[in-house]
Amino acid sequence: MSECKSTSRNSQQIPLTNIADSQTQDNIPQPIEGIGEIVLVASGKGGVGKSTVTVNLAVSLRNQGLRVGVLDADLYGPSIARMFGASEGLKTDDRGIAQPTECHGVFVLSVASVMPPEAALVWKGPLVTQTLTQMFREVQWPEVDVLLVDLPPGTGDIQLTILEQFPICGALVVTTPQRLAVTDARRAVSMFHELDIPVFGLIENMDGYLCPCCGEHQQLFPSGAAKQLASDRSVAYLGGIAIDPDAQALADSGQPMVTAQAGGVTASRFNELADQLTSAVLKEQKYRAFQARESDHSNDTSHTDFWEPLLDE
Ligand SMILES: Nc1ncnc2c1ncn2[C@@H]1O[C@H](COP(=O)(O)OP(=O)(O)OP(=O)(O)O)[C@@H](O)[C@H]1O
Ligand SMILES: [Mg+2]
Repeated sequence: MSECKSTSRNSQQIPLTNIADSQTQDNIPQPIEGIGEIVLVASGKGGVGKSTVTVNLAVSLRNQGLRVGVLDADLYGPSIARMFGASEGLKTDDRGIAQPTECHGVFVLSVASVMPPEAALVWKGPLVTQTLTQMFREVQWPEVDVLLVDLPPGTGDIQLTILEQFPICGALVVTTPQRLAVTDARRAVSMFHELDIPVFGLIENMDGYLCPCCGEHQQLFPSGAAKQLASDRSVAYLGGIAIDPDAQALADSGQPMVTAQAGGVTASRFNELADQLTSAVLKEQKYRAFQARESDHSNDTSHTDFWEPLLDE
């Protein structure tokens, strides 16, 4: 059952970004009114749990007191509206501008809210770009501290459009333990690094099974590949999330685990991940402040130079 509410707490834990003040070059994406930090949730392979992670992190960040939005950029396979239990259709204001739906205290926007479930999107590049621009810039977003963007799998058109057009703070990469998934996650990490977008961490979803009787963590797949990738690319390994037998039913009925099973093992993991994400965003803000101070840019450092020493902190 949906818990769509209209309440929203104010928080300044992560202040709204003021990128506009420090960026004047034409090729730098302009800030989006009302939206603070944009964090992408990405993967190489499909079905590894990006949308599950997005929904639960969003609600967890909201529970920390942040104002949070979620944009479902998986135009061809949108899951976010269902996982939030968002009702169909989008509200519009008196000028006819669409507004995200508030669910579980999070502002949610998905093409699934305006398309019949059986409709197949067969859009080519220009229409994809246009739709994403509308979703980011032509919707009346309320002020949010963090906007989580649920990406489709891979390193395709949608990812590149978003990275080129919108001011991205950083990305989380989700993988499962299997080598095939990790190999594709490596490509996703490379894409972000090539575009100097910090990867805030690697999340290893479904990394084992928690015995319902004794709570013991049982490993189902060979482990180590995700940690190795994190180490190779100097990305923080944020830890695993075990297979939760209730995850699918809760997702299908629009109930985030952090709400439906608050206090449970999986919910606790998401809360820890939300803390790690908040710290990463604050570090990135520190980096930007540092860059802004170096106004002549004589000491320009890449994100990698900045992030690598911080990983050990
Ligand atoms: N930790 C978990 N335990 C059990 N089931 C999970 C877990 N994480 C995700 N799932 C289930 O796995 C399926 C795929 O998850 P999800 O839709 O989040 O993946 P995705 O990466 O977003 O997929 P896609 O690439 O298709 O967008 C869903 O049915 C979800 O409920
Ligand atoms: Mg998904």
